[in-house]
Amino acid sequence: MKVTIVGAGSVGSSCAEYIAIKDIADEIVLLDIKEGFAEGKSLDLMQTSSSLGFNAQIFGVTSDYEKTKSSDVVVITSGIPRKPGMTREELIGINAGIVDSVTENLLIHSPDAIIIVVSNPMDTMTYLVVKKTGLPRNRVIGMGGILDSSRFKTYISIALNNEPQKNIDAMVIGGHGDTTMIPLTDNAKVNDIPLSDLLSTDEISKISSDTMVGGATLTKLLGTSAWYAPGASVAFLVKSILNDSKELLPCSVMLNGEYNFKDLCIGVPCIIGANGLEEIIEIKLNDINKERFQKSVEAVRRTNLTLKGLI
Ligand code: 2OP
Repeated sequence: MKVTIVGAGSVGSSCAEYIAIKDIADEIVLLDIKEGFAEGKSLDLMQTSSSLGFNAQIFGVTSDYEKTKSSDVVVITSGIPRKPGMTREELIGINAGIVDSVTENLLIHSPDAIIIVVSNPMDTMTYLVVKKTGLPRNRVIGMGGILDSSRFKTYISIALNNEPQKNIDAMVIGGHGDTTMIPLTDNAKVNDIPLSDLLSTDEISKISSDTMVGGATLTKLLGTSAWYAPGASVAFLVKSILNDSKELLPCSVMLNGEYNFKDLCIGVPCIIGANGLEEIIEIKLNDINKERFQKSVEAVRRTNLTLKGLI
């Protein structure tokens, strides 16, 4: 199986690293516009192969889309990342043009690929790709909810004295934005016990707000946006597609009446398999979360409006 990752920055190269280490694909192409950069990252990664014991081949190329030919999955991480104090939405002007041309080039050489969108503002970039390409919605998936859910689980684990995260079942839906994401605290469980039986309302509400600004917290600490958890989240999504494992993952996909909305991409629980999006799962939301979802939809739609002229 072949995966192309566009953007050899920190997110793209971490993603390549995890896909290789976890034996998710046997061929990985890293592509970047910066001369020699993807080649350097790939060579460095290939030199971890004997120590880490993986067999995947990683190739780096500078803007040579020919080498991405016949990819099963393509991941778009390109664009500028957030700087401290910036929202994801502020990146739209530059990133929309980049995502648009990258997608066009990728599809020339891999017309059947499933596209994963990581560039921010992610929900709007995913919408742009669906609208511009006219691809069926199962083939365009935005990665944000898996990352937000992994932050949610981390904060739950910390509050429970480092409870192993494999015991935590928790999900974030809605937009991938500091004010638009919705950590589903009522549905969260640890070893099948509701979170509300284990922590106080104040503790749960702190977990929820820490999760929502999880990306901004890291941006402040690192001076740029995070990469390990975003890279791992993409790798997990790619694995579910290539192994056809039908994981239930929150992803940004085009709604067509689900949750009572249509014509926007936003995070909802999805079954992900060989066809990409296999099914959207409509879980029952309580009244508060229904209202939050509605507000999240409105905010994502406002950001989508800035695509006028492009789609
Ligand atoms: C994050 O949340 C940058 O959206 C990315 O870390």
